[in-house]
Amino acid sequence: GGGTGLGKAMAQKYSELGGKVIICSRNINNLNKAKDDIEKVTHNEVYTKKCDVTNIDNVKELSEFCKNNNINPNIVINNSAGNFICPTEKLSLNAFNKVIDIVLKGTLNITKIFGDNMIENKNGGCFLNITTTYANTGSGYVVPSSISKAAVNNLTKSLASEWGKYGIRFNAIAPGPIYTEGAFSR
Ligand code: HXC
Ligand code: NAP
Repeated sequence: GGGTGLGKAMAQKYSELGGKVIICSRNINNLNKAKDDIEKVTHNEVYTKKCDVTNIDNVKELSEFCKNNNINPNIVINNSAGNFICPTEKLSLNAFNKVIDIVLKGTLNITKIFGDNMIENKNGGCFLNITTTYANTGSGYVVPSSISKAAVNNLTKSLASEWGKYGIRFNAIAPGPIYTEGAFSR
């Protein structure tokens, strides 16, 4: 989820600090625009790869792409999200599944594949999961997002405990409301 909003801003900051950054999402136009915008400011190459995090084959291809280009991510940010602001009785189960697939299963797909790589490489690393304040409290009108982000918080704590022995750190940030087109258009 690095082509727009908070993901793009974080990618730019890492690039400014000299990081070798790869951004991924479904929409290649978002990625290409972000690449151009960031490189103009940082003069540091940004890599892009189209990847739908809900599609495990896409995530495996991303991992292969990284290996083939000598990109060995030691910081992975799970920022992709989908959200409907909608009364729950008006949401179909398909709509629920759409959000759960992106927020929870997408985070899991990326974490499993890149975590396995980190363990194999024995260099440790760091995962940063972007959640929400309502993940701790629950919230009406965003229930698919709320339950998925709560599960991501739990995944963060569970793997911080289990994979600390491999030198892999897990953190989550729950931003307050920050104006982005993706969030505020909803
Ligand atoms: C209710 C809706 C809906 C809506 C679609 N659906 N829009 N239900 N309200 N506004 C239903 C459809 O009828 C369909 O169900 C099902 O959802 C899937 O529809 P699709 O057309 O396949 O999905 P689509 O609308 O194309 O994509 C949904 C999405 C998309 C994948 C979630 O919006 C997306 O890509 N979002 C990414 C960007 C994003 O959401 N960013 C916000 C992050 S903000 P049926 O049964 O009819 O098939 C955030 C936290 C903010 O996470 C916190 C602020 C404090
Ligand atoms: P955003 O711009 O809509 O960001 C969401 C990103 O996820 C998009 O770049 C989108 O790109 C990507 N994405 C969606 N589905 C994907 C999929 N299946 N595979 C890969 N990428 C996918 O909104 P944002 O506000 O910056 O949100 C960023 C993060 O912050 C989210 O996790 C959100 O829940 C969290 N957050 C935001 C706020 C806020 O106030 N803005 C508050 C709390 C938490 P594509 O469409 O190109 O795939």
